[in-house]
Amino acid sequence: MDIQKELQYKANEVDSIIVKYLPAEEGYQKTIMEAMNYSVMAGGKRLRPILMEETYKLFGGNSKALYPFMAAIEMIHTYSLVHDDLPAMDNDMLRRGNPTTHAKFGEAMGILAGDGLLNFAFETALKAFDVEDDKEKVIKSLKVLADKAGIYGMIGGQVVDIEEEKQNGISHNRINFLYEKKTACLIEASMMIGAILAGADDEKVKEVEEIGHNIGIAFQIEDDILDVEGDPKLMGKNAGSDEKNHKVTYVAFEGYEKSKEDVWKLTGEAVGILQGMPYQNRFLTALLYYLTARNS
Ligand code: IPE
Ligand code: IPE
Ligand code: MG
Ligand code: MG
Ligand code: MG
Repeated sequence: MDIQKELQYKANEVDSIIVKYLPAEEGYQKTIMEAMNYSVMAGGKRLRPILMEETYKLFGGNSKALYPFMAAIEMIHTYSLVHDDLPAMDNDMLRRGNPTTHAKFGEAMGILAGDGLLNFAFETALKAFDVEDDKEKVIKSLKVLADKAGIYGMIGGQVVDIEEEKQNGISHNRINFLYEKKTACLIEASMMIGAILAGADDEKVKEVEEIGHNIGIAFQIEDDILDVEGDPKLMGKNAGSDEKNHKVTYVAFEGYEKSKEDVWKLTGEAVGILQGMPYQNRFLTALLYYLTARNS
């Protein structure tokens, strides 16, 4: 299996799904639709919708509700990036190989496009009710989406990330909280929603949450490593953002060797849980390993 090729193929498929849910660029407010569509369609690995779909396949899913949720998670993720890049936050000018949304549309429109994407994600996910008879699945998925994106999830992590810049020392517990919330939560949500929509029971959804937790933390550690040694051309964003913003990253805190070790350890544990399941998805297992050696 050529995983890189396979991933590109899947990312293109995700694009063709997402594009169907994006708003038409019309009306007096059309600038916000242009900014939203610009940031979503700029590209990106589409990791979260892919993880959602692959987890769904793992449990043998068969529900039309999957597509609106795949689009919704990518909208929430993209909004988190649009806001993360704002001058008041990481102040970055390049994202997904293009000028950041605020760089292209101005700061006010960057803020509004992020707001718009967050709200539109729920407008989109709610469309699942029109196509899925099992309303309980949709309600459960919406609850996961809302919880993992909010102040007890991704936003909570971003808060600690910002406050950390002003702190002299960060504790092990605080840095773990930060990674778990700002990055792992949306990865957990992606996988859990795939499992829920496919009809997995609560116990299995909990196991999937643990897999997402490990993979999410490993993903952010790897992101920090790439921020130091990655190639901007491959990443589509500039390196050195963390240093510029005086971030105490996991890598700075634990050291390079231990960080790499932890990426492997966390991934190994995640794969262990995955392989303990009564079903298998070879691509998903390969993807989890592939993420440890990614260059973008
Ligand atoms: C970037 O996420 C932000 C982090 C949580 C590390 P991705 O690396 O998934 O970014 P895209 O979606 O591919 O642009
Ligand atoms: C961002 O972490 C995580 C989000 C919730 C957006 P980073 O600030 O490290 O993400 P990049 O490196 O800008 O993509
Ligand atoms: Mg940031
Ligand atoms: Mg950033
Ligand atoms: Mg980063």
